[in-house]
Amino acid sequence: MKRMVVVAAMLVFSAAGVVAQQDQVKQTQAQMKETGKNAGALGAMIKGEKPYDQATVDVALAKFEDTAKKLPTLFPESIKGLKPDGDYSASPKIWEDKAGFEQHIASFTKSVADAKGKIKDLDTLKAELTVIGKQCGGCHETFRVKKS
Ligand code: HEC
Repeated sequence: MKRMVVVAAMLVFSAAGVVAQQDQVKQTQAQMKETGKNAGALGAMIKGEKPYDQATVDVALAKFEDTAKKLPTLFPESIKGLKPDGDYSASPKIWEDKAGFEQHIASFTKSVADAKGKIKDLDTLKAELTVIGKQCGGCHETFRVKKS
């Protein structure tokens, strides 16, 4: 399913010739939404709404890894000031404080790498997701803007 979405997206982009700026904004948002969805699935287990499921954990960690890898390319200078539909957009601080933004990417990447292979049950999930979640929140606090 995920592969189909990617292939479909690639077809759309190649038909357009270039990835237009608005498309990049949407792509960035889609990546983050998908990341949020995976974090939500883990949160549901922690809250006891869903039973612990290793496959869901592994998929979520793979998604986080993918996001960590893509983050350096998700916010090119060309999308500065463009706002996606929805509740959130990128803060101009991403481009004003590049070093700070990159630092957040690096520590997020590290927290995801550290968690790999360690999550085996609810307790270890709680422990590792707390660490990773702090990284999500830490970056959002400074670099994500909530539309009012
Ligand atoms: C290095 C910075 C950084 C890290 C780390 C990060 N994010 Fe984000 N995130 C952003 C920025 C910037 C936006 C706003 C851009 C956008 O929404 O298009 C955002 C937007 C979001 C959104 C809103 C998407 C929307 O527009 O509806 C969600 C959900 C989200 N992130 C989840 C996560 C989760 C979960 C993690 C951790 C597993 C995470 N993010 C880690 C920078 C980060």
